[in-house]
Amino acid sequence: MKLSQISKMVATDRRGIETVHTVEDARASAKRKLPKMIWDFIDGGADGELAIEANRSSLNEVSLRSKFLTDISNRDISMEIFGRRSRMPFILSPAGIATLAHPEGELAVAKAAEKMGAIFCVSTASGYTMEEIAEVSQERLWFQLYLWKSEEVVFSLIDRAKRAGYEALVVTVDVPVVGKRERDLTNGMSLPVRIRPKNALNTLRKPGWLMGLLTGPEITFSNLTGIAQGDDASSIGEYTDRELIDPTRTWDDLGLIRKRWAGPLLVKGIMTPEDSIRAVDAGADGVIVSNHGGRQMSFVPGVASVFEAIVEAVGDRAQVFLDGGVRRGEDIVKARALGATAACGGRAWYWGLAAGGQKGVERILSILSADIDRSLALIGERQFENICSTNLYR
Ligand SMILES: Cc1cc2nc3c(=O)[nH]c(=O)nc-3n(C[C@H](O)[C@H](O)[C@H](O)COP(=O)(O)O)c2cc1C
Repeated sequence: MKLSQISKMVATDRRGIETVHTVEDARASAKRKLPKMIWDFIDGGADGELAIEANRSSLNEVSLRSKFLTDISNRDISMEIFGRRSRMPFILSPAGIATLAHPEGELAVAKAAEKMGAIFCVSTASGYTMEEIAEVSQERLWFQLYLWKSEEVVFSLIDRAKRAGYEALVVTVDVPVVGKRERDLTNGMSLPVRIRPKNALNTLRKPGWLMGLLTGPEITFSNLTGIAQGDDASSIGEYTDRELIDPTRTWDDLGLIRKRWAGPLLVKGIMTPEDSIRAVDAGADGVIVSNHGGRQMSFVPGVASVFEAIVEAVGDRAQVFLDGGVRRGEDIVKARALGATAACGGRAWYWGLAAGGQKGVERILSILSADIDRSLALIGERQFENICSTNLYR
């Protein structure tokens, strides 16, 4: 196939973003554009993938009450998060190596988030370095940290995040080992990405993606260059297990991080009231209720079903965020009604990125914003901030 033909196909794909009206549309578009092994890496979860379904069904079980003939003019979907107003009550969750979906990766995501007024939480495992990402955005950025084996690596990442102007640090605690992602094992998904005989034909059928791979940056954990150089043949899971995650970590380590990081500190991956209290006792300002989008284990409940108990345990000692299964703006309103400061989501923006680069992520964020605004009108509320448990059916 000639290069001009490939460019034409990519251009046709780009025009398609106007046909995306829902997160599910973006998911379908991403599925069409990505090789199966990349699609499965994003879409899939651990083991039987029941937790992905549980996140959705727990949100589906929440119903909102409508009040009609109230004045719903001048609606406002903004929210105060750690003392500063955010135009959108949605945080783009950390999701590694966005360059897998699009060569502009996190740069496109950061620009889209800036345009739409949403906070982007950059993953430790980002495809571009945290400094490169901070360079293209004036909007609020958070940095997500894994507790790597080497304390030196952990502290150097924290110091770099501070220097680059990141506002908050998010420590992910739900990866004591990497979950078993069965689809990745079946597909032979690895880093660096390898086109193997079993995925070659399917990859060749996605010329737009292939061109991005050939012309874009190397797909790697850029923040860890020089630290995480590994064995080509290893799966991502094995590689991370072996080199990067420290199974000896305890809550005392969070105390050390608290001492080093002066800004807001959040803990991501909390699923029980007991752990939420431990996190806050260790100095966290925020708790992200999350099961890693079902990517770590299958045997956990949906986030919305455990959320209120955690909000109650935390009280006013920290802000609590809901992460997982958010596919529509109404899910974000439901999260607020359950007591969340805001909601977070990973696959929604990742699919948007695959569907249309920066424009695709902007599209997703504008769909979610419009959904939140419409939901406010439909339940008879003017301000997202005022949503609370009285908006729930009990
Ligand atoms: C492709 C992908 C990569 C991810 N990488 C990370 C990561 O590097 N760090 C992290 O804390 N969470 C990571 N997550 C989990 C997200 O932060 C978030 O918890 C999850 O996507 C929420 O579920 P949702 O996709 O249904 O919104 C990743 C998720 C996806 C889909």
